[in-house]
Amino acid sequence: MRKIRLGVGQRISLGYAIALGIAVSGTVAGFRIGHTYHQLADEREAFIRDEVELLHRLQTGILQARTHQQQLIPLMENRKEYQHEYAHLLHHKREIEHFSRELKTFIAKESNFLGEVHSREIPKFLQTYNNVPSLYFQELDRRMQQIQSLNLALPKDIEQAQKILLEFTNSQLALKYDGISDDLVSIIEDCYKEANKAEELSEESSSIAQKFVIGSILLSVTISIFLAILTSRAIAHPIQTLTSVARRSTQESNFELQVPIERDDEIGILAQSFNQLIASVKQLLHQEQVTNEQLEQKVEQRTEELKEKNLHLQNVLEELQRTQLQIVQSEKMSALGQMVAGVAHEINNPVNFIHGNLTHVQEYTQNLLDFVQLYQQYCPEAIPEILDEAEAIDLEFMQQDLPKMLDSMKVGTNRIRQIVLSLRNFSRTDEAEFKTVDIHEGIDSTLLILQHRLKQQAERSAISVIKDYGNLPWVECYPGQLNQVLMNILANAIDALEESKIPNPQINIRTDKIDSNWVQIAIADNGPGIPEAIQKQIFHPFFTTKAVGKGTGIGMSISYEIVTQKHGGRLECLSTPGKGAEFMIQIPIIQNR
Ligand SMILES: Nc1ncnc2c1ncn2[C@@H]1O[C@H](COP(=O)(O)OP(=O)(O)O)[C@@H](O)[C@H]1O
Ligand SMILES: [Mg+2]
Repeated sequence: MRKIRLGVGQRISLGYAIALGIAVSGTVAGFRIGHTYHQLADEREAFIRDEVELLHRLQTGILQARTHQQQLIPLMENRKEYQHEYAHLLHHKREIEHFSRELKTFIAKESNFLGEVHSREIPKFLQTYNNVPSLYFQELDRRMQQIQSLNLALPKDIEQAQKILLEFTNSQLALKYDGISDDLVSIIEDCYKEANKAEELSEESSSIAQKFVIGSILLSVTISIFLAILTSRAIAHPIQTLTSVARRSTQESNFELQVPIERDDEIGILAQSFNQLIASVKQLLHQEQVTNEQLEQKVEQRTEELKEKNLHLQNVLEELQRTQLQIVQSEKMSALGQMVAGVAHEINNPVNFIHGNLTHVQEYTQNLLDFVQLYQQYCPEAIPEILDEAEAIDLEFMQQDLPKMLDSMKVGTNRIRQIVLSLRNFSRTDEAEFKTVDIHEGIDSTLLILQHRLKQQAERSAISVIKDYGNLPWVECYPGQLNQVLMNILANAIDALEESKIPNPQINIRTDKIDSNWVQIAIADNGPGIPEAIQKQIFHPFFTTKAVGKGTGIGMSISYEIVTQKHGGRLECLSTPGKGAEFMIQIPIIQNR
């Protein structure tokens, strides 16, 4: 058989329906029972009362007849009253007959609540005295006929009649007749008792009904309480479990917890839903965590990207600054170059003119001097005025010194021509294309430009430049820019040496061919050197340790840019603080394009 599963709500409803049903049906039953009992008792009481009335009437008839019969004796002498009394007696006789019949009919009535009196005493009474009244009246009738035959005008006959009646009054029959009313008294008394009992029963019935009602209400209340306890247990226990799990899961943030499912009613469904809810929360939390992680990753990634962008921007900015500086410096350099080139060009022609003519001047002077000597040889006695003049101009000294002077002038113009050449060499800034040049020429011309700074000065001795040139091939480069690098490095070395004020300042310039592809120029000074912490910074734009106005911090950064970016070379700084610094330029002999 299939077990019928009821929900909590259905169970509660059913329970309370049962309780209420008991209360209502108990009350109805109580009232109905009470009503039935009451009706029964009332009916019985009415019945008894009817019976009693009949008995009373009968008794009254019996007693009246007996009284009238006894009254006949003294009234014997008064004829009229005697007749009247007798008539009364006859009337009661009829009454007795009538009520005897009535009583018999009444007793014959069957009733479902027959009492002891009705069912036993009255039938017994009727049986006992069945023919007693008729016998009594027959005997009385007989005696009355005897009395009629007498002459009641006569005292003897009256006496006789009185004697007849008196005998009758005291006869056995009359005594038995009197027994009727005696028995009736006790029967009526019993009837009253029964009537009282019926009344009590009626009262009792209402109390029974009341008890029934109260009992059923109590029973229903008990059932209700029991049901309430059961229901509250059935609902409260699982809900308590659920609540404690819910509280624990929120307090401990433990979403692994599950509520045990022990039933398949609403509570079971609630537990199941709660478990699902917890599972959903867990899943949501997991998702949130994953999202957070992803978000964090994204943020990190973005930050990284931003950092990169920032770095890139910084690089771009640095590049920009460098380019700007480079433009500025190359602008300066180009201005300087142009100026130098212009000056060189302007000087070149007159110097060449002087130099070219100087050979002729030498020749002419020599000729003139030879001629004077010839003249002195062949005309030794000269006129006194000429001798005086010769002495005045110190002719002898002039003859010796003039060729020397012209020689040194020639040296001077040669030097000037040399300088002009160097200047023109240095000022090759405008050359934007790679040129194959002699590096040594570049170094020399740069040194020439810086010549005035190398000389001895008030506070320091002259800086000696020691060249150690290797056998270099011609190198492909931007000569102007390379000169700019050499200039920056040499200028810094001079600055450092000036600052340190050491007694024998020196600059060593060494060139080497490293291998078939690379050449190297090393420029070292014996100045104070560069502290290690600063070494990394010197190539940064605007880094300077020099006083404002003196240092700009752009020389090294531009040199680095020119060597590494423009020539694909390397520029390094090696320095032992206190022992000087060395800058190493390495560039490829042939540029890769
Ligand atoms: N030969 C050197 N000896 C010592 N310090 C040097 C030398 N060359 C460069 N430096 C250091 O490098 C710094 C940067 O040089 P540079 O870029 O040319 O800028 P600036 O000469 O205007 O200061 C200098 O301020 C100096 O401190
Ligand atoms: Mg500098």
